[in-house]
Amino acid sequence: MKRILITGASGGIGLATARLLADKGYRLTLVARNEEKLARAVGELKGQGHSYLVADLTKKEDVERIAVHLEEDKYDVLINNAGAGVYGSFVDLSVQSQMGIMFLNMGALVILSHAFLKNAKSGDALVNIGSLLAYSSFPGSSVYAGTKSFVANFSESLWYEFRKKGVFILSFNPGAAKSDFHRNAGQTAKSLPEFVLSTSEQVAKELVAALEKRKTPHVIQGWKNRLMLFGFKFLNRKTAINMMGKLSPGM
Ligand SMILES: NC(=O)c1ccc[n+]([C@@H]2O[C@H](COP(=O)([O-])OP(=O)(O)OC[C@H]3O[C@@H](n4cnc5c(N)ncnc54)[C@H](OP(=O)(O)O)[C@@H]3O)[C@@H](O)[C@H]2O)c1
Repeated sequence: MKRILITGASGGIGLATARLLADKGYRLTLVARNEEKLARAVGELKGQGHSYLVADLTKKEDVERIAVHLEEDKYDVLINNAGAGVYGSFVDLSVQSQMGIMFLNMGALVILSHAFLKNAKSGDALVNIGSLLAYSSFPGSSVYAGTKSFVANFSESLWYEFRKKGVFILSFNPGAAKSDFHRNAGQTAKSLPEFVLSTSEQVAKELVAALEKRKTPHVIQGWKNRLMLFGFKFLNRKTAINMMGKLSPGM
């Protein structure tokens, strides 16, 4: 039975993905901070042999513990999904909280990718969760948008490095989705328009399909998101940035 470790799987997109993968017969290890949610999630997954690891991936020692686990215990797939953002004006937000987000979204992802890929064999796969914002600025969440550009660029470069070895790397980029993400990021008065939102289950379905097909190193989730990025090609950069600034709950 194939084994998958997925970070950020106590809720949202990670948990929806874990549920789909368990339905398909994979054996899952879920990683997140909240033990109660993890235990409940593992208990509800279909099939046998699922487990969880409690870790705060903003803490270097916790990330290193998961990295050692990945080196010692063979997994077929790693899904780096844990991520967070913060809404607000760059200077109003503490620099520490933004550095924490940079470490979670990029540092932890790089350390875990490295630990996994060192021993990866042909047929294995690494999925890194970026964002639509990897390809667009996002005023009011500038550090978050920057981290996601890193994730997409890093993952696509790895795809080329590992394709001859038969190890598949996927940069999977969701658009805005309904989860606790926006509340955790401090969304206040302004909400994202309903028509742009996908459910976590819709995102998970596309993620699992792309992982199974292994056709392309880069996926933008959702036709509306793909259409938006296509439309951006016809706008000058300044207009696109202005549009995103008007949409952003952080402004
Ligand atoms: N929702 C969106 O609109 C959207 C759009 C584009 C991309 N994404 C990306 O999709 C991924 C999943 O987001 P989501 O929408 O599912 O968010 P979510 O509902 O907030 O879930 C985030 C998950 O990550 C875990 N997590 C957060 N901080 C962590 C930490 N320090 N250490 C370990 N685990 C941590 C959370 O669990 P605990 O609290 O238990 O730790 C939870 O399981 C993220 O990478 C996000 O950037 C989301």
